[in-house]
Formats: sequence, structure tokens, C-alpha cells
Amino acid sequence: MPSLMRTCTLLSALLAVWAAPQVVLQQPSLSKRSLRGRFLQITDMHPDPYYRNHASQSSACHRKKPKKEEERASKYGTPYSECDSPLLLTNFTLDYLEEHWADEIDFVVWTGDNARHDNDRKLPRTLPEIYSLNRAVASKMKSVFSSKGVPVVPSLGNNDVWPHNIMTPGPNGITNEFSSIWRSFIPFPSYQVFQRGAYYSTEVIPNELAVIAMNTMYFYEKNKAVGGCQYREQDDPGNLQLDWLDVQLDIFRRRGIQVYITGHVPPSHNSYHPECYVRYAELALRYQSTILGHLYGHMNSDHFSFLEADDLEFISDDKKAGSVIAQEEKKPMDLYHMLLKEYEALPSTFKKTNEDDFAVINISPPVVPNPYLPTFRVFSYNISDAATDKYRTSKKKKHGRKRGHRENKKKICRDRPFHDMWKCRLKQAWYSDEDSPSRTNRRLTPLGYAQYHIPHLEKAGKKHSPEVKLSYVTYSRSMLRPEEGFEKDWHYPVPMKQLPKALREGNWTGHEGEKFLPYELEDLTVGSWLSLGRRLADRTEKKLRKQYRKFMYHGLGHEG
Ligand SMILES: *[C@@H]1O[C@H](CO)[C@@H](O)[C@H](O)[C@H]1NC(C)=O
Ligand SMILES: *[C@@H]1O[C@H](CO)[C@@H](O)[C@H](O)[C@H]1NC(C)=O
Ligand SMILES: *[C@@H]1O[C@H](CO)[C@@H](O)[C@H](O)[C@H]1NC(C)=O
Repeated sequence: MPSLMRTCTLLSALLAVWAAPQVVLQQPSLSKRSLRGRFLQITDMHPDPYYRNHASQSSACHRKKPKKEEERASKYGTPYSECDSPLLLTNFTLDYLEEHWADEIDFVVWTGDNARHDNDRKLPRTLPEIYSLNRAVASKMKSVFSSKGVPVVPSLGNNDVWPHNIMTPGPNGITNEFSSIWRSFIPFPSYQVFQRGAYYSTEVIPNELAVIAMNTMYFYEKNKAVGGCQYREQDDPGNLQLDWLDVQLDIFRRRGIQVYITGHVPPSHNSYHPECYVRYAELALRYQSTILGHLYGHMNSDHFSFLEADDLEFISDDKKAGSVIAQEEKKPMDLYHMLLKEYEALPSTFKKTNEDDFAVINISPPVVPNPYLPTFRVFSYNISDAATDKYRTSKKKKHGRKRGHRENKKKICRDRPFHDMWKCRLKQAWYSDEDSPSRTNRRLTPLGYAQYHIPHLEKAGKKHSPEVKLSYVTYSRSMLRPEEGFEKDWHYPVPMKQLPKALREGNWTGHEGEKFLPYELEDLTVGSWLSLGRRLADRTEKKLRKQYRKFMYHGLGHEG
């Protein structure tokens, strides 16, 4: 063998050895599986290894057996309590998803908190415990989804770190440990970035659809170990992450790839450091034509909110929506009323609304029955033929549009301290496009979701296991089920067998059918969410408001 060739053979053999584990480590790719047009979001599982059946709720379901039955923990979890999930419940949920959903979806968005809360002074959490719970759930997620070719995209929760809510700039013990725990979920090219900041991106449909998993700990207002994205602090980990996000979004935009941004703590005035919030909102709007949606967890309550162009302006407090006003009021406002205020502040007519100015944050309720019921969400999206969709090829090179600063902003920005605030520094052109999938229903546009829950969890025990039921769907009637003659090639947003009898049989008129279809959204474009927000802002829409609130709190109180 000529020596050059031998060297080459040796080299390629060596490379093969190096490359081998890397290949094994990669996420399964969807290319070999046909698209189902659906994905799962699961969040906030909070498994608790100390959970005991019949223990007292006041001990976080860890000890004692109270005399009164209603004060006791139940076997599969204790709904409307402050207890976390018994492993029996997290296992049941994942086994259920394996049996009924793993084959019906294309990928899984998994938005954090896979350890118990720190709610028992007698049993403080430790870092090894947090890691081992995360390892156990990750390994179960792998066997339930990854092993079947369904990519899983985890992100870090505020209860996945220790101390609670605190995370120092990486690389650190936490980024190292999660690099190992999530090794199989993180694509090789994202590896180095992950070790620094615990964020990454992954193409769930190669060259077409990516999910960006943020580490919201660096934006979270309660994390006092970071500076909170101050303009002058270039090395702040929140700033570094948003610099990275900017670059990622720009690369995906140029490649014509659409993305979901996902994470644990949703962007809001209340929970993000103000400067991090401004930067996030600006990126969400600047890349609106590339971003299909923003999917978050953490709040333990089903709702949606908006990021707005106004968030980038200097607007006096009395004009601002919801959150800010709420903080100043004597009686703290509950989330439902804060959201109504936000919806009421939306432009009241379609004519006045510039959809460029809005992005939608979707917050999914949790698996943990604390403080409501176990829940998960299955989104559907448009999988019409890529070849006939002209958007990808024709529009991706389109130039962004410069947006002028408003007059008052120019004035304000001349002076300190405003001069060095992100609001005064963000001047790039925006990429928004009314034909993009986030604005017009076309290939990849999210179409809606079906939300499932486990009512009467406390009744599950020896005799029967928990029963998963449809809570509601966002769809309109005509989307769920084809009319006669249209069955062929029909895109079922929800598989028929996953619908309750009334919907399966097309019995729309009955009360049974109606209660599952509160919103009848045609799709989940920015415009559809704006119109739902506007309807909820209308005081005469009593029934709609009641339903929205019922889903937020799973029927529990919060009157007033
Ligand atoms: C949960 O599932 C895991 C893995 O499938 C298993 O090892 C564990 O024993 C289960 N725990 C319970 C409480 O069922
Ligand atoms: C998907 O998008 C196409 C346009 O590309 C549209 O004609 C079709 O109705 C959409 N499908 C669904 C199920 O909404
Ligand atoms: C439709 O639902 C109503 C109310 O639940 C029920 O009374 C009726 O029998 C149902 N009709 C059919 C055809 O199933």
C-alpha cells in the first residue's frame, strides 16, 4: 500500500473512531419519518421522590397521615395542592404519551423544571438530588421519544438549578452537568455554546424548522447572580445569550428556516430584568418573519400575552398595560385581570393595528398538579407541500425595513441615563412580512393546539389509573373533521381517536361539543391571537371570558 494511501486510511479510521460517538449522540433526524404536522409541549413535571400516598398536604405530601381524608395526599398526585408530582404520576404521564402520542408527533418541546420545589424545610433540596431527578426524567424522555425518532428539545428551569433561581455565568457546574444529562439532545455544533450558557438550537426538520432553547435564568429577575443585560456590561451572560440569539436568528433567516423560541420563564415585565426584556422583545419583533412562536412554561397557568413595539418606547406608566399598573395598586391584581388589562390596551380595530408591532408568548400549563391539574399540550402545524410554497424561496432575501424613532424618544435618548439603555440603542431594520408563516397560514404555520388534562386525579388509585381527557382545543369546528368526500389527504390537527365522542361524531350542537371549542381560531398567526385578545377585552363577551379564566385556573375560584 503506498504510504500516502495508508496514511489516509489510518486517518479516516481514526476520524471514524472520533466521529463514531458523535454520530450516536446526535438527535434523531426526522428525514426518515414522514411528518405528522404535530408537536408536543410538556413542562414543569416536578417529580418528587419523597411524595407519600396519604401523607398530609401541609407537609408537602411527605409525612404524617391526617385524620381528615381531604387533607391527605392521594396516590397519583394531589390536585389543587402545593404538593409536587409523585413519580407514579410523571411515569404515568410519560407512559401515556408513549402509548398514545409518540407516533403522532414530530418533535417535543420540553420547557423545564424536572425537580421538586423547595417547599419542605425538613427536606431541603440538594444539588445531587436535582441532578439525579433530571437524569431520570431525561432518560425516560429518551426512551419514550428519542428512541422512536422524535427529537426532544429541553430547556432549563429555575428549579433545575441550585440555589433556587440562582445561576452564575457559565461555564460552571450546572452547565457542565446538563451538558452531560442532555448530551443526546444537544446537537454537536451547539455543544460549546451550551457549555458556556446552557442554551442551544437544533433543527427538528433539517433545513426547514429549528427550535431555539433559551436559558431564561440569565434574564430572570430573581437571579441576582447576573447583571440583567445592562447595555454597558458586554460580558453579562444575558447580553451574551441575546447576542447569540441575534446571530442565530439572522443565520436561520438567511437560510429560510423558521424557528420556535422556547424556554422556561416567559418574557414579561414582571419576571425579566428590564433590559433583558427590552432586548428580547426587540429581537422577537425584528425577526418576526422567521419566528413561528414563543413557547414557555413556569407560570403553572394557561395563558398568552404579547410583546409589543410599545415595549421599546418610553411611555408614561398610565398608558402601559397590565403588569406595571398592577404592581402599584394596593390590592395585587391576579394574573387574569392583568391579562385583561393588557388585552384592553390593544388597538381596538384591525385598521389601526400594525401586526409588525406584535409577537405572541404562549404559556403552557404544567404536568405537576400544583396548584391545579396535570396538563399537556399538542400543537399542530401546516404541512402542505413544501414544493408549492413559494415563501421560502422568494422572500428570504428580502431586506428589512428601518423603523424611525418616535420624536419623544430622540429627545429622551440624548440624556443620561437613557442614553445607555437598550431602548435608545436598538436601531436595526426589522424583518417582518405579512406573507410569513407567523402572519399568514401556509406551510409551517401553527394551526392550533389541543390541551389535555387529568381531572379527578385524586380518585385514581388501586382500582383505576388516571384518565386523560381533552380539556379544550383552539380549533374551529370545520378544522377538526372533514366533511364527507374530503377525507382523503385531510390534515387532522387532532387524531380522531384523541377526540371525545361528541367531537368524533360531529355532534357540535350539543353543549358537550361546544365546551371543547371555546375560541374557534383559524390558525395561530399573530393576527388570530390579536383577535382573540380583542374579543377577551370586550366586556360583553362574558361566556368567552369565563371559559378563558376557567382554563387558566382549572375551574378553581379566583373570583372578583
Ligand atoms: C418510573 O419509571 C422508571 C423508568 O421507567 C422506573 O425505573 C421507576 O421505578 C418508575 N417509578 C415509579 C414510582 O413507578
Ligand atoms: C396550509 O397552507 C396552505 C397554503 O400553503 C393552505 O392552502 C392550506 O389551507 C393550509 N392548511 C391548513 C390545514 O390550514
Ligand atoms: C348530541 O348531543 C346532545 C347533547 O349532549 C345529545 O342530546 C344528542 O343525543 C347528541 N346527538 C347525537 C346524534 O349523538
